[in-house]
Amino acid sequence: MIKFNIPPITGKEIDYIKTALNNQKTCGDGYFTKKCNELLAKKSECKNVLLTTSCTTALEMSAILSDIEPGDEVIMPSFTFSSTADAFVLRGAIAVFVDINPKTMNIDADLIENAITNKTKAICIMHYAGIACDMEPIIDLCKKYSLSLIEDAAQAVNAYYRGKMLGTFGDYGCYSFHETKNYSMGEGGAILINNDKMEMAEIIREKGTDRSQFLRGQIDKYTWVEKGGSYLPSDVLAAYLLPQLEAMDEINQDRLNSWNIYYKTLNPLAEHGYIELPFIPSGCQHNAHMFYIKTKDINERSSLIQHLRDDEIQAVYHYIPLHSAPAGLKYGRFVGDDNYTTKESERLLRLPMYYGLTSDTIQKVCSSIAKFYLR
Ligand SMILES: Cc1ncc(COP(=O)(O)O)c(C=O)c1O
Repeated sequence: MIKFNIPPITGKEIDYIKTALNNQKTCGDGYFTKKCNELLAKKSECKNVLLTTSCTTALEMSAILSDIEPGDEVIMPSFTFSSTADAFVLRGAIAVFVDINPKTMNIDADLIENAITNKTKAICIMHYAGIACDMEPIIDLCKKYSLSLIEDAAQAVNAYYRGKMLGTFGDYGCYSFHETKNYSMGEGGAILINNDKMEMAEIIREKGTDRSQFLRGQIDKYTWVEKGGSYLPSDVLAAYLLPQLEAMDEINQDRLNSWNIYYKTLNPLAEHGYIELPFIPSGCQHNAHMFYIKTKDINERSSLIQHLRDDEIQAVYHYIPLHSAPAGLKYGRFVGDDNYTTKESERLLRLPMYYGLTSDTIQKVCSSIAKFYLR
């Protein structure tokens, strides 16, 4: 079976984890956590980076830091993972969904202003497949209406827009290091703080205490100073992640090579109008987080999934648009027309993509797809 995903491994993980265990300091913010924070800070050129237990909790921290309160509205795409909405809805906010641009599957920046009301507190964008949203108009709107900007950059680690790493445009950027992502610690994430709230972020992440300042020797005892949660991961998990961050560019290049082989091999099918391939707008340097194709419609997609399964190839789709999901109906509303969210989400199919995918395997996947359309 050709798997859809294999979590990345560099080979150094076990040694690093052993060192973390031998350090006899396995709670958060130890040696490996600091190293990960530092590497991410250097790469992103954002000096305030904190490893978290997931992208979901990084988003939750962003919601707390943005002072989201019951009744506030947060604008976001409906074509996204539940976590994007959960973080805000948990604080009593209403998720306000806006349609996507079918070319990128990202929120359509031109539709956002129409969804802004006097209750709007923030915009949470999501960079689908590591391909940047249309940043300039979104940043302008946040300035014009004094809104917080949060980037759900779960899929966008080491992806750039006009040379600037995604996750560094908004007040807060949230990364995922889940096993399905380009760099993994099993479950994990990070928050990038691009405003002056780093001290508060450290407090929220550490159960509302100033333990981070205590660990740095800035105060001689630590205490409960604010509302908080437990959002820092064990140093053992950071030890799992660190070798991958050290090999970030190598992993990225390997994935990009795979992405390019898919694109080149499937392009004739696209040119004959059988399928659609991803579109990379100018200024976007993506990270090959995924390779997807679009079929004619949901029925064709279902048949193709079955055909690939018969050929022992795993291919998957996502997301069920949030506005049509049970929780979306309860906690959100869609503004404007759903011209593309549902239709395009039903056409999208993700192909196997992981670090170490061989060109032979990609050829098998592409041949199977060609067989489906040209039989
Ligand atoms: C867009 C998006 N946001 C958030 C998440 C949640 O990430 P995590 O599992 O690290 O909480 C995911 C995970 O797939 C995602 O795709």
